[in-house]
Amino acid sequence: MINVEPHAYIFDAYGTLFDVHAAIARHRAEAGPEADRFSEIWRSKQLEYTWTLTLAGQYVDFWTLTERALDHAFARIPSVDRKLRPKLLDAYLTLDAFSDVRSALAALRSTGLRLAILSNGTPRMLDAAVTASGIAGLLDATLSVDRLRLYKPRPEVYRFAAETLMEKPVDIAFVSSNRWDVMGAAAFGFKAFWINRAGLPDEYLDHAALRQLTDMAMLSTI
Ligand code: LAC
Repeated sequence: MINVEPHAYIFDAYGTLFDVHAAIARHRAEAGPEADRFSEIWRSKQLEYTWTLTLAGQYVDFWTLTERALDHAFARIPSVDRKLRPKLLDAYLTLDAFSDVRSALAALRSTGLRLAILSNGTPRMLDAAVTASGIAGLLDATLSVDRLRLYKPRPEVYRFAAETLMEKPVDIAFVSSNRWDVMGAAAFGFKAFWINRAGLPDEYLDHAALRQLTDMAMLSTI
């Protein structure tokens, strides 16, 4: 047991609450044998664009980057039919939440903790995903980096969340499945938790997670 006593929990959205590979999963048969590689390219380019634009002092919203990354994936994997484009984008707006998400949020909330999302997603994307997954009633705030026009892991983004919740960073538990996001949150001063569902090797050892968990259900036991 670690006595972290946070006042609030902040969750990353894509990859942590919502399964970014659920869009291709819904259309796997039509996408064909390279579906998984296609989905990996889509996700990795989407993130790469956030990092490179932020380093260059530029901003393009996350929905537009999601579309551009998808177009890049189509160009890289010609076996996936471009007719899937509107279906995949529609699916991205209503991605499935991971199966452990709703009960984990409900368990934390029942102890009186405040819960929020801090995500690269645009407000429209986040509203759609939160509504579709039925977790809106469990959240006190859904915060988008779009307000700042800067992407994670810039410290301003984590500061924006702490200031909005009116809590000191040390009193906030930040939860992400994206190890680079855990790095940014830990560097900023949050108590960072890594949900490592895929059993990936650890990285960013200078900015360790306070705890590494295999699923969200374990959060209410720490
Ligand atoms: C987000 C990205 C990391 O939701 O997927 O902020």
